[in-house]
Amino acid sequence: MKPKKKQYIGAIDQGTTSTRFVIFNHRGEIVSKHQLEHKQIYPKPDWVEHDPIQIRDNAFQVIKVAMKKAEIAPEQLAGIGVTNQRETTVIWDPQTGKPYCNAIVWQDLRTSELCKSMAKNNNINCYSKKVGLPLATYFSGPKIRWILENVPGVKKAAQKGRAIFGNMDTWIIWWLTGGPGKGIHITDVTNAGRTMLMNLKTLSWDPEMLDIMGVPDNMLPEIKSSSEIYGYTAQSGVFGKSIPVAGDLGDQQAALFGQTCFSPGEAKNTYGTGCFLLLNTGEKIVYSKSGLLTTPAYKIGGQPAVYALEGSIAIAGSLIQWIRDNLGLIKKAPEIENLAKSVSDNGGLYFVPAFSGLFAPHWRSDARGIMVGLTHFINKGHIARAALEACAFQTKEIFNAMAKDSSISLKSLKVDGGMVANNLLMQFQSDILNIPVICPKITETTVLGAAYAAGLAVGFWKEQKELENNWSKGKQWEPDMNKKTRESLYKGWQKAVKRTFDWVE
Ligand SMILES: Nc1ncnc2c1ncn2[C@@H]1O[C@H](COP(=O)(O)OP(=O)(O)OP(=O)(O)O)[C@@H](O)[C@H]1O
Ligand SMILES: [Mg+2]
Repeated sequence: MKPKKKQYIGAIDQGTTSTRFVIFNHRGEIVSKHQLEHKQIYPKPDWVEHDPIQIRDNAFQVIKVAMKKAEIAPEQLAGIGVTNQRETTVIWDPQTGKPYCNAIVWQDLRTSELCKSMAKNNNINCYSKKVGLPLATYFSGPKIRWILENVPGVKKAAQKGRAIFGNMDTWIIWWLTGGPGKGIHITDVTNAGRTMLMNLKTLSWDPEMLDIMGVPDNMLPEIKSSSEIYGYTAQSGVFGKSIPVAGDLGDQQAALFGQTCFSPGEAKNTYGTGCFLLLNTGEKIVYSKSGLLTTPAYKIGGQPAVYALEGSIAIAGSLIQWIRDNLGLIKKAPEIENLAKSVSDNGGLYFVPAFSGLFAPHWRSDARGIMVGLTHFINKGHIARAALEACAFQTKEIFNAMAKDSSISLKSLKVDGGMVANNLLMQFQSDILNIPVICPKITETTVLGAAYAAGLAVGFWKEQKELENNWSKGKQWEPDMNKKTRESLYKGWQKAVKRTFDWVE
């Protein structure tokens, strides 16, 4: 039996493909976890949806199972943190908890025309100084506007206070703290910063942006810091006890925090459904000239916000899932490595997975995916290899953009996420960037970051320094490719990317 009083922190990671609950001890080690996938709903080629009710149920279920596995009592949880797939948009009735439609997922392209119509002089960066983001289908604001304009009854309901908005953090926290009539309606700066509705400097909802997106302010959650006690879990809820809900960060910012990239100039790259490279720029807001996003990284209680430059890649691990589910070349994601190893190189094949258009640094919603360089020689091994290499090439594009914008050239890259289990990919990443690639012992850095935020708020951890001591190196890959090969491979990639443009007219 574990001593009764030992305390832990629990965190929910509500991701694009799955929801997990992880319990951590004071050293930041995993004590117990459980994870469930949810359905990806594709009603049309460009649409991606999730069922918010299934996600809520999964969240409750993973909590129950992880708690049971850990054999700890709810009162041993000093606090709960939440991290989430960002931008995915839910609108629901606060009296009943019923969503008005499925959640519109960040990858969804239905707002493409709407975004174009809002761009002044066709300039997608017309609001970048204010919100740090280009006008793109990716963000929540246009998704809210789309729902208000296209789902019958929502606009009227919003006027009467019967329709409220949240990203998945807000949705989950609302349910944890009691749901209908009781749940608290909040978000944090990192999530609010992905709506195009928050002013980057003031960290509050911006009246001009609300007007442009046609969003009434009574729909919006209150913006809080990423680490403070927001409220308590409902006694009648899944924990059966009142536990502080005290951390909230978007998943990529959470991974940055979980990797303890606390100083300006520190960066991490996370390979999950998509791939996201974030560079801490400190309290300084750095605007991008190279197609990166400016985004809040975290705000700890009353301390000033810390910002980041971000390169967002829409498709990384989901390409491996597509090869598994839609092509049937493998049964499980890890099998991609052996398939890729069955050939010695890509054989001249490039696979540009512009399934949701292209995000950073191109921001082209008119792009669609392609395989180029096909010859009689190409087999499924080359397809597997080209798919893995695509993640590394896309990362190199971001890496170069970051060097331009920040004048910081990273000497090594900290990595995490499900795909770091793939040695071939990590070695190729190191080769193509020509720097060492390093992953920590705990690769579940996203959920760890949310746990850290909650733990700091409740005093489970006293200061960020303590968290830095928890970080330890798991694995390192050293570059081993000559300059000529590296440059010629990347040149091929750049040519392939150009071929994806202007596909959708
Ligand atoms: N060995 C592997 N080689 C290549 N890809 C892999 C491997 N193992 C897992 N993946 C891919 O990694 C992804 C899972 O990683 P991870 O668990 O970090 O994602 P996730 O956190 O569920 O994503 P999200 O947060 O967006 O839901 C899947 O898309 C899967 O296809
Ligand atoms: Mg994730």
